[in-house]
Amino acid sequence: MMHAGEVRCTTQQGFDIGHGLDRERASGDNIRLEFEEKVEMARLFLLLCLALPVTVLAVGDPVAGEAKSAICAACHGIDGNSQVTIWPKIAGQHVDYAARQTRLVRDQIRNVPEMYPMVMNLSDQDIADLAAFYEQQAITPGVADEELVPLGRKIYHGGNHQTGVPACAACHGPAGNGIPGAHYPLLRGQHADYTADRLNRYRAGEVNGDNDPHSQVMAAVAANLSDEEIQAVSSYIEGLHFAR
Ligand code: HEC
Ligand code: HEC
Repeated sequence: MMHAGEVRCTTQQGFDIGHGLDRERASGDNIRLEFEEKVEMARLFLLLCLALPVTVLAVGDPVAGEAKSAICAACHGIDGNSQVTIWPKIAGQHVDYAARQTRLVRDQIRNVPEMYPMVMNLSDQDIADLAAFYEQQAITPGVADEELVPLGRKIYHGGNHQTGVPACAACHGPAGNGIPGAHYPLLRGQHADYTADRLNRYRAGEVNGDNDPHSQVMAAVAANLSDEEIQAVSSYIEGLHFAR
């Protein structure tokens, strides 16, 4: 996960915007991530690896998970790609992150009233199976609003030094794939509406329970984001992908 890659963001107009390039010069071009960003990424990764506890989880069976997934499809889509933009896509999400979030909802630590009745009676094994099924599904790519790409790209890859916002790529990776072992979720392709809503709530200090280091990390990250930055980075994330 530490190596540089060719990162692109697709916009509604269909342009591929290469990382670090001006919009005018960008289409059809890629550049390598800068060394500085990699160093920052390594530093934050190490810090967080030391800070976050590792939990041992039930091993999920994706075939069993598929059989249990009908109740989830109404909101998250048959293959984990929700059609409604305020409901998250969960296709391709790391199994450990997705299982943990589902357990948090079941245990009413992450407050999702509309989902809670569907998961309140699930066992840890059921949840592990479901998460294993969704991890195997491919997240559908999205598009970014071209107007928002310059600011979104700046925040995603470089943060905002003036206000102390760290680069998202430091933890979520240059292409938004996240880091499974550290509970840094996959972000790329996610609906911008959902991402923006999550960032607004992290910024307002919404965390899962009193002692959850994972959501506390994101509340700290989001604390100084402006409304414009949230809108732009959420749109950028929706269009983010690796060039083939
Ligand atoms: C009635 C709609 C609904 C149903 C049915 C539903 N969910 Fe959800 N789910 C949501 C909503 C809404 C959220 C996001 C909550 C938020 O914004 O914090 C969510 C969030 C999640 C997340 C966390 C996503 C993330 O990126 O953090 C996972 C994982 C998840 N659901 C799995 C499931 C599974 C597995 C099922 C079936 C057992 C299920 N959901 C059924 C509405 C639903
Ligand atoms: C220091 C590491 C770190 C950095 C930097 C970071 N994140 Fe996160 N992010 C996390 C962790 C850990 C979680 C899981 C939080 C939880 O469990 O609630 C997360 C979760 C998220 C989520 C929720 C995903 C979902 O599916 O619900 C979003 C959205 C997000 N981050 C966006 C961003 C953006 C945008 C930035 C840059 C401004 C950023 N993150 C920077 C560690 C980080």
